Amino acid sequence: MNELKKKLAEIQAQAEKKINEDGIDPEKVRIEYLGKKGDLTAVLRSMGSLSPEERPQIGQLANKVRAAIEAAIEARKQHLKASQLEHRLMSEKLDVTMPGERFEIGHRHPLTKIRRELEDIFLGLGFSIAEGPEVEYDYYNFQALNIPPNHPARDTQDTFYITDSVLLRSQTSPVQVRVMEKQKPPIRIISPGRVYRADDVDATHSPLFHQLEGLVVDRGITMGDLKGVLELFAKNTFGEGTRIRFRPHHFPFTEPSAEVDVSCFACGGKGCRLCKGEGWIEILGAGMVHPKVLSGCGIDPNEYSGFAFGFGIERVAMLKYHIDDMRLLYENDMRFLSQF
Ligand code: PHE
Repeated sequence: MNELKKKLAEIQAQAEKKINEDGIDPEKVRIEYLGKKGDLTAVLRSMGSLSPEERPQIGQLANKVRAAIEAAIEARKQHLKASQLEHRLMSEKLDVTMPGERFEIGHRHPLTKIRRELEDIFLGLGFSIAEGPEVEYDYYNFQALNIPPNHPARDTQDTFYITDSVLLRSQTSPVQVRVMEKQKPPIRIISPGRVYRADDVDATHSPLFHQLEGLVVDRGITMGDLKGVLELFAKNTFGEGTRIRFRPHHFPFTEPSAEVDVSCFACGGKGCRLCKGEGWIEILGAGMVHPKVLSGCGIDPNEYSGFAFGFGIERVAMLKYHIDDMRLLYENDMRFLSQF
């Protein structure tokens, strides 16, 4: 009997020691001591050899030891849980005095920037912005602009055809027609947008580029008005000292037509690398809206006249920012873009 009491005291002491050892799972200790094959259970089994008076004493004692071990296991579990939480809180703690993560603030793409600047110039002159579809009918892109089928002018714009009568617009001029069909004079619009030509990519060509079209139709509009508007555009875009000059040209949808140059803003007209020694840089096409185009849109050419112009936005951006390769505008290399 004393033997068993001693044994129980030992079991309790051992179990309590083990429970609080580092790296020991308290549940394992429970199985080891209190489980079916555990040490305490073995003691209870051996009680058969005791006298009827001794049995309840040992039984009570064994229950106390069991309760003590259970309590120690619970206490240890609570302790482990608390220290785990503490550990987590420590490792997750936030040092609010650390410098924050910096986010790069983006900015507009140079083409968008230029386009908006150009739009602002014309909006300031009372123009409004009109848009047309990029997938366009041959009718609007060519026929209504006085370019019938088989007209040689079609060869100068290598066009992506979708069907015989549907194409990717090769210029923004079809928007002129769409506007004039819907709206009667006075008309004062610009139309910036994407255009497509089946050109191979190189430093000055891309199958997708951008143009900005201008159209003014009213009573008594003359080439003098065209000149005034373009001069203002040139000075605003390339600098106050910029002059413009008209050279005779041919477009089927304008008569007379002109190509317009700006004086070289790099050398002031003396001749340099940028203007290839010319002193002038070709910048756009323009002219007085052809009477056939006006009447085709239901506008009487005897009552109204108008001018139109169109230029490449990439070309303006490249000249203005001294970009010598158009591909830079499309490749989205941050080293290039971040300079704007
Ligand atoms: N659409 C012509 C082109 O792409 C430019 C132009 C527009 C010429 C308006 C005259 C009038 O070459």
